[in-house]
Amino acid sequence: MEKELMSLHQQAAQELSAVNDLNELQDAKVKYLGKKGILTGILRNMGNLSKEERPRIGQMVNDIRIKLEDIITGRTEELKEKELLIKLKSETIDVTLPGRRTNLGHKHPITLTMDNIKNTFMRMGFTVAEGPEIENDYYNFEALNLPKDHPARDMQDSFYITPEFLLRTHTSPVQARTMQSCEPNSPVRVIVPGKVYRRDYDATHSPMFHQVEGLVVDNGIRFSDLKGTLELFIHEIFGSDVNVRFRSSFFPFTEPSAEVDISCVMCKGKGCRVCSGTGWLEILGSGMVHPRVLEMSNYDPELVSGFAFGMGVERIAMLVYGIDDLRLFYDNDLRFLRQF
Ligand code: DAH
Repeated sequence: MEKELMSLHQQAAQELSAVNDLNELQDAKVKYLGKKGILTGILRNMGNLSKEERPRIGQMVNDIRIKLEDIITGRTEELKEKELLIKLKSETIDVTLPGRRTNLGHKHPITLTMDNIKNTFMRMGFTVAEGPEIENDYYNFEALNLPKDHPARDMQDSFYITPEFLLRTHTSPVQARTMQSCEPNSPVRVIVPGKVYRRDYDATHSPMFHQVEGLVVDNGIRFSDLKGTLELFIHEIFGSDVNVRFRSSFFPFTEPSAEVDISCVMCKGKGCRVCSGTGWLEILGSGMVHPRVLEMSNYDPELVSGFAFGMGVERIAMLVYGIDDLRLFYDNDLRFLRQF
């Protein structure tokens, strides 16, 4: 019996020293010292021993148990430390690695162009006004001297929502909205940036595009004020070396009306594909506000006069950046957008 116990002790001690992790240690502990463990079994069967043997063997079994428990305590500490080290190692980060930069976005070329146009006019004392994109027939047409059945309505293929409401085809309705929100005949100097909608789609037209409208009304506003303001604006945007030309035109809401051309930014006026060989590029419409338009918004054309203009932002952006297909602005291709 004693021999058996000694070799059992040896075997248990060996097994406990050989385990590699806390799980194995737990298994070995249960095997020898657990409720149904080998050593516990021997204690339980002490009844079979003679009276003289019992205390001696009992003492021995207890000594072995204490020694094994000591080993287990030691190994537990050791294995815990080992596992902590493994965990730490797996969680280490290399603080010397270069950081990963998050990409910051930037403004879309249309927004950049819009901001540029706005800032140029704001430096001339204009304020910014806005109006709704869903507009009624009255503001989009009627208040601009385009009565129902006026043939000039055909110039703007419109998206109607109901016979009364449509997506605004231009920013001009904000002219009437602005004047009507002011004291009659009080001075106005606003620009109106915004989205407009027409049934058009090709390399130079899209169903949604952006315009900037301008309206100046005051005592004694003359055509020369219109010319000076727009020439200054154009030289700010396209550079002081472009030539500017005012060409007579027609808009129902202005009289006289003028379209404004600049010398071609691609060929410097020599004539090329972009300007169809003319050397000129049309960039905006303008004119002196029609007396009927002033009257309809409670302004007295005998007392005040004004000029107005409207331009397409996409067109200006295409000329400034040298882009030949407007659809690129809306494709959201990062290879395109990153260039601005
Ligand atoms: N609303 C016109 C269009 O979209 C552009 C325009 C022309 C606006 C002359 C004006 C103007 O204010 O005076 O085609």
